[in-house]
Amino acid sequence: MKKEEFVMEKIISLCKRRGFIFQGSEIYGGLAGTWDYGPYGVSLRNTIKQLWWKRFVDDRMDIFGVDAAILMNQNVWKASGHVGGFSDPLVEDLKTKKRFRADHLLEEQGIDPKGMTLAQMDALIKEKKLKSPDGNMLGDVRQFNMMFKTHVGAIQDDSSISYLRPETAQGMFVNFKNILDTFHPKLPFGIAQIGKAFRNEIAPRDFIFRLRELEQMEIEYFVDPRDEKKVKETFDALYEEQVAFLNDLGLTHEKIHKVEIAEADRAHYSKRSVDTEFDFPFGQKELLGLAYRTDYDLKAHTEKSGVDLSYFDEETRSRFIPHCIEPTFGVDRITLAILADAYREDELGGEKREYLKLSPKVAPILVAVFPLLKNKPVLVDKAKEVYADLKKVFGAKVSFDDNGNIGKRYRRQDEIGTPYCVTIDFDTVEKEAGVTVRDRDTGEQERVMMKDLVAKLV
Ligand code: GLY
Repeated sequence: MKKEEFVMEKIISLCKRRGFIFQGSEIYGGLAGTWDYGPYGVSLRNTIKQLWWKRFVDDRMDIFGVDAAILMNQNVWKASGHVGGFSDPLVEDLKTKKRFRADHLLEEQGIDPKGMTLAQMDALIKEKKLKSPDGNMLGDVRQFNMMFKTHVGAIQDDSSISYLRPETAQGMFVNFKNILDTFHPKLPFGIAQIGKAFRNEIAPRDFIFRLRELEQMEIEYFVDPRDEKKVKETFDALYEEQVAFLNDLGLTHEKIHKVEIAEADRAHYSKRSVDTEFDFPFGQKELLGLAYRTDYDLKAHTEKSGVDLSYFDEETRSRFIPHCIEPTFGVDRITLAILADAYREDELGGEKREYLKLSPKVAPILVAVFPLLKNKPVLVDKAKEVYADLKKVFGAKVSFDDNGNIGKRYRRQDEIGTPYCVTIDFDTVEKEAGVTVRDRDTGEQERVMMKDLVAKLV
């Protein structure tokens, strides 16, 4: 196993062991491309989503939040181009009929498929006489639509087709007029949404990186297209805000990279795309996207629905379709970036340990409170009192732990990424000597008087 794969195995194992992430439908052997979040995973994701919503919606006057339905009228996806164009290049194993991503097969041969057309990939696979991973001949490279199709209602015919949305974005475009009519915003303004999206990935992989069911946080930011300089400035400013958000989560800044995407690799609606890539254990990969969608979507929906989605500019007394710049964030990929970035192995007190060096801002538990000994009511009662007091300040970020010996509790909390452990010992109750506060990263303990405890933890 390669070293990076080994690190991923360890992260996956820690996530399961400590209740962050479990395999989806595990007791039935799983369902590829799905993962379930346990209590600490939910906490981490909720923190990410809350910080995002606060930064991009609550703290701003120009961005409006919505929560649109996942199932949408099939015409949405015809107009948006997803029925025709949301696809991956696939090749079929002619013997087993299994399908593989053509670009991934090329990547595995050390060939960079970025910018290649379908025909170029096809030609290269044939020229190199590439075989399927099972050793069989491959067919031609074809496009494969990635939307999950379903039927709405009792009758299964063409008119009842719907799709699980492959992006939350369209829920914002179809509500553009509702926001205009109810809030009367002036350009520039945005519409934001957090929600699930679904993609029938042929090769889900890398834990929660490439999923079939994922969660997105997206903003459709509408601008006046007549001032091109301003459009570019807004695009660049939104990129900076995306990176500022990642910095705020405590991600290592040096692992964040700006990548301008070549035309051939851009989504069908994008005139310019800049990805924010991150150094994951399995390589530098896309973490966030930023796309200049122009008037592509509003224009397409105006034409298909017959409803006018233009904007009237009072100042110039003119009417036009705004352009859209879209910053998009994947909750799962950000979760993975945080976990992978925080994962550490070291030796403490002569013992090997694994731990998560999570920023206190995102750690599911900020402080765990322990009685030194589980079977001494005087210690347990005092620990429960301290726990209740800290909960009034830090809420769900405080936990009480009296399982196993103190060494085991420290190890467990290290793996959860808990920055502080507070222990109540005999000196606490007999001498009013305060508590010990242990630092996750150094393992060092200091005595802190009760009155100073909250200040020590913030
Ligand atoms: N809305 C952009 C994306 O889903 O990638």
